[in-house]
Amino acid sequence: MTTPEPDATATIAVAARRAATVAFDHVTKRYAGNAATAPGAVEDLSLEVPAGKICVLVGPSGCGKTTSLKMVNRLIEPTSGRILIDGQDIARRDVTELRRSIGYVIQQVGLFPHQTIGENVATVPRLLGWTTDRRLARVDELLSLVGLEPAVHRDRYPAQLSGGERQRVGVARALAADPPVMLMDEPFGAVDPIVRERLQNEFLRLQADLAKTILFVTHDIDEAIKMGDLIAVMQVGGHLAQFGTPEEILADPASDFVARFVGTDRGLKRLALHRVGELALRPATTAREGDEARPAAEALAADPLGYLLLLDADDRPIGWVGRREMPATGTLTRALASPTSPFLDRRTTLKDALAMLVDAEVQAGIVVDRRGAFRGTITAEDITAFARPEATAS
Ligand SMILES: Nc1ncnc2c1ncn2[C@@H]1O[C@H](COP(=O)(O)OP(=O)(O)O)[C@@H](O)[C@H]1O
Ligand SMILES: [Mg+2]
Repeated sequence: MTTPEPDATATIAVAARRAATVAFDHVTKRYAGNAATAPGAVEDLSLEVPAGKICVLVGPSGCGKTTSLKMVNRLIEPTSGRILIDGQDIARRDVTELRRSIGYVIQQVGLFPHQTIGENVATVPRLLGWTTDRRLARVDELLSLVGLEPAVHRDRYPAQLSGGERQRVGVARALAADPPVMLMDEPFGAVDPIVRERLQNEFLRLQADLAKTILFVTHDIDEAIKMGDLIAVMQVGGHLAQFGTPEEILADPASDFVARFVGTDRGLKRLALHRVGELALRPATTAREGDEARPAAEALAADPLGYLLLLDADDRPIGWVGRREMPATGTLTRALASPTSPFLDRRTTLKDALAMLVDAEVQAGIVVDRRGAFRGTITAEDITAFARPEATAS
């Protein structure tokens, strides 16, 4: 079953670009019962999330991620320190009004089981006293936005939806009153990896339009690298081990703990942050279907790769022709070409490109443009050279 792409017109209508900075200022939380000397759940946390950015709090279980998040909507009050939204201390705000200005998405979604999807999504607008017409319009707009057909899903109950669909409803509900700030606690943790990846991609696409300020909790470093503009790595005891961009954290872990947490494959993970468009492309020896074989064979004889790329009349790659397959005379036909690995484009991550090259017979990735026309090639060596820190430090 496929869900429709989020509707572009809905995206524009909902895309009120309202966001706020969120700052932790020396925030400590010790739960009652802890001796004053015992390690806190959160210890002297200071960080600032700029408006419109996703900050991921990541770290092992028990390091204080959920506690940090819940202090932002005052489900938990700090023992000391302040949290500021747009410079204003949230301790001075009315709790109800504060919570209505913050979208909150949690792992088990927390949909009300005896309410329809539409009623669930309209929770905050109802509390805000919106008219029925405005609520209904908003529900349909939001369901389309998160990729659920309103006419199909609006009147169903949560139990009638898949886990991935329920998670989309949770996101729609959190967005209902267009809050400037969203808190997301392991929002995609309860679904299988394929659905999770789709939800992550959908959410990033949404966020490109919405530009909310988002605090996103996960224990999964790969999810943190994918979702975060900024990452706060936390350590048990509630300490902030490092705060920076994914690139900074992978390229230069601040401690052994961070290095261990991001993993020994951090070089490979960094490749997921960069795209084919950042590399200089190499030319290839090419010829068109229907060309004379003789000059093509001569060019191929001089080619260091030992392969010629056969193109169609619109410059779209057909496949590689090796020296052994190349006829000395006649014309070049598509039957000569062997299938290639999938094509790359400027947006392909270097990690995906490398993965394709590892499996490819010809060690050159074919890069095409939006029309599918050949632009150049990249090799595994190009990618690994790019990944070495000294090669990219500017
Ligand atoms: N209500 C509570 N009372 C006492 N200790 C708690 C409470 N909630 C969490 N903790 C403790 O605080 C620490 C941080 O918890 P939490 O913020 O839930 O971590 P995380 O979300 O990173 O797994 C843990 O040691 C946890 O056991
Ligand atoms: Mg937690």
